[in-house]
Amino acid sequence: MPSDSVLEEIKTRIDIVDFISEYVHLKHAGQNWKGLCPFHAEKTPSFTVSPSKQIYHCFGCASGGDIFSFLVRYENLSFPEAVRALAKRAGVELKVSQKDAARTGEKEILLNMHRDALVFFQQQLARNAKAGEYLNKRGINIEAQKLFSLGYALKTWDALLTFLVRKGHKAEMIKKAGLVTQGTKGIYDTFRDRIMFPIYDLKGEVIAFGGRTISGDDPKYLNSPETLIFNKGRVLYGLHRAKEAIKKTGQALFMEGYIDVIMAHMHGFSNSVAPLGTALTPEHGKLIKRFVEDATLVFDGDEAGMSAAKRAANVLLESGLNVRILSFPDKEDPDSFLRKKGAEGFRKLLDAPLSIVDFFMLQKKDRRMIAHEALETISRMPDNVLQGQYVKMLSEKLMINEIFIREEFNKIRNLSARTVQTAAPKPGLRTKTRPSEEVSLIKLLLQLPETIGKVSGVISEGDFKDVATRTIFKKIMGGLTDFNELLSTCEGEEKDFLTEISLRDDFDNPEKGFDDCIKRITGNKRKRQLQELQGKIQEAESRKDFKLLKLLQAQHQEITRKKG
Ligand code: UTP
Ligand code: MN
Repeated sequence: MPSDSVLEEIKTRIDIVDFISEYVHLKHAGQNWKGLCPFHAEKTPSFTVSPSKQIYHCFGCASGGDIFSFLVRYENLSFPEAVRALAKRAGVELKVSQKDAARTGEKEILLNMHRDALVFFQQQLARNAKAGEYLNKRGINIEAQKLFSLGYALKTWDALLTFLVRKGHKAEMIKKAGLVTQGTKGIYDTFRDRIMFPIYDLKGEVIAFGGRTISGDDPKYLNSPETLIFNKGRVLYGLHRAKEAIKKTGQALFMEGYIDVIMAHMHGFSNSVAPLGTALTPEHGKLIKRFVEDATLVFDGDEAGMSAAKRAANVLLESGLNVRILSFPDKEDPDSFLRKKGAEGFRKLLDAPLSIVDFFMLQKKDRRMIAHEALETISRMPDNVLQGQYVKMLSEKLMINEIFIREEFNKIRNLSARTVQTAAPKPGLRTKTRPSEEVSLIKLLLQLPETIGKVSGVISEGDFKDVATRTIFKKIMGGLTDFNELLSTCEGEEKDFLTEISLRDDFDNPEKGFDDCIKRITGNKRKRQLQELQGKIQEAESRKDFKLLKLLQAQHQEITRKKG
C-alpha cells in the first residue's frame, strides 16, 4: 500500500471537481458543485462536490469520500486499483509492494494465457470441418465467428495443455485458470469438443471462456470457473462489443444466451448482452447504468424464461434502471425468433415492449397473486412518481379499486423497508440518525481543534452511543485532527458520515455549541450512571447488604450533587 504522503500528492494534483465532471454532469451551486448522484437513482441533484474540501457527498444516499473512494465505487475497483489508476493520471510514481507486484504479475500471466488459448481455439476452428459445420448450421457465419472470436476445443484430452505448456505456461497456473482440470490420473483439458466463446472484459481482454458442446455432452454449456481475472457477477457477455451501441440507442437488451447475443448482433441489434449462465446481479445493473438508463429484458418465452425475467427485473430496477420486457411466443428465444422472423419481426416486438404491469398481467394466475407480485416489483423502483403511475395502471388493468391496491402496496413497501434495514445495515439509503450532540461535537472538534484539550478527561469514547461518531472521536483524540488525514483512515459508514458533516455549515458560535454538546453528553452519561446505580441499590436492598447499600447511596449522592 502506498504511503499517506503519496496519496496526498495524488490528491493535490487531481482536482476533484474536474475529475468527477468526467463522470457526472455538475453544476455550480454556491461554494459547491451539484449533480445527479451516480450511486442511486434520483431526479433532483443531491450529489455535492466540494472544491475547498476536495470531497463529494450525496445527501440522498449518504455516500461520500474523496477521489479514491469515488473511483472505487464508480468503477467497482479495489482500493489499490483505484490508487494505481489515479497515480498514473496524476503522474505520480508508485512504489509497488512485493505482494501487489505478485498479484499484478499473476493477473498478467493469466491474461497472456487466455490470449494464447484464444489463438489456439481459433486455429482449431479453422481446421476442423465439423465445428465449422455446426456453426453454419446454427446460422453463425464466418463474419460473426470473427467478430466474436469464436473457436473450437479439440476432442482430445490434452491438446490445449500441450499447446500452453509449449508456450511456456506452467501447469499450475493453467489449472488456476480452470483451463485444465485435475483428475485422478493427472490433469486434462477442461473444454473438449466444444465451440469456444471467449469472454471479454470492458478493456477488450479475454478473461474466461464459455464452451458449447457439439456432440450432446453434458453440460450443454461449460464456463470457466471464477479466477483472479474473472468474476461472473461483474461481466456481461458481448458488452465490450455492445457498449457503443448501448450508448447510441439509449438502451441495453439483456438476453439469456451467448448465441442469442451473437444472433442479435448479426441482425443489427448490437446493443445486446447476456449474463454468463447465472442470474443477473446488482453489479450487472450498475455496470449497464454507467451507459444508459433503460434496459429491456429479452428472455426466452417459456416458463423458465418468465420467472428468470421476473427476478432480473427486480434486480435491475433496484439498480435504478427503467425496465421493460419483451414477450416472445412460447418456446422461442431471441436466436430462434430472429432466424424465423428476421430483424424486422424482432424490431416490431422491440417497438412494443411490455411495461412491468403488462408483463405481470400475462401470467395465468389469479388477480390477487398478480397484484401481489407486481406490487413487490413496483416497490423496488427508485422513483416514487413512477411507482404511483404503475400502481394506478395496475389497478386499472386488474379492475380493482385503486384504494385497495394502494393499501396493499403500502403494506408491501413497509415490509420491504424493514427487511432492507435488517438485512443490510451497511450503507442505508438515508442518512442514519445519530445522537445530534455526538454529531455536533465531532463537527466542532474539526472546526476548532483547540477545543480537543477541553474534552479530554471530561468525555471518553464510552460516552458515545453511535459507533461511527465513537470511532471518529477516538481517532481525533488520538491526534488525527486534519480532516483529510482523518478521512483517509476511514471507510464505509464513517467516511460517509465525515463527508456529510464537513459539508454542513460551521457553527456561528462554536464555544456555545461546544458547551451545549458537552452538557448533553455528560448529562446522558450521568443519567446512565444513576440508572445503573439504582439497579445495584435495589439489589443490595433485597440482599440486605447494608454496607454496600451505604456505599452505593453515597455514590448516588455524589453524582447528583455534581450536577449543579
Ligand atoms: P439455454 O439453455 O437457454 O441455451 O442457455 P441457448 O442459449 O438457447 O443455447 P443453444 O441455443 O441450445 O445453444 C442460456 C445460457 O445459459 C448458460 C449459457 O450461458 C447459455 O448461453 N448455460 C446453459 C450454462 O451455463 N450451462 C448450461 O448447461 C446451459
Ligand atoms: Mn437457443
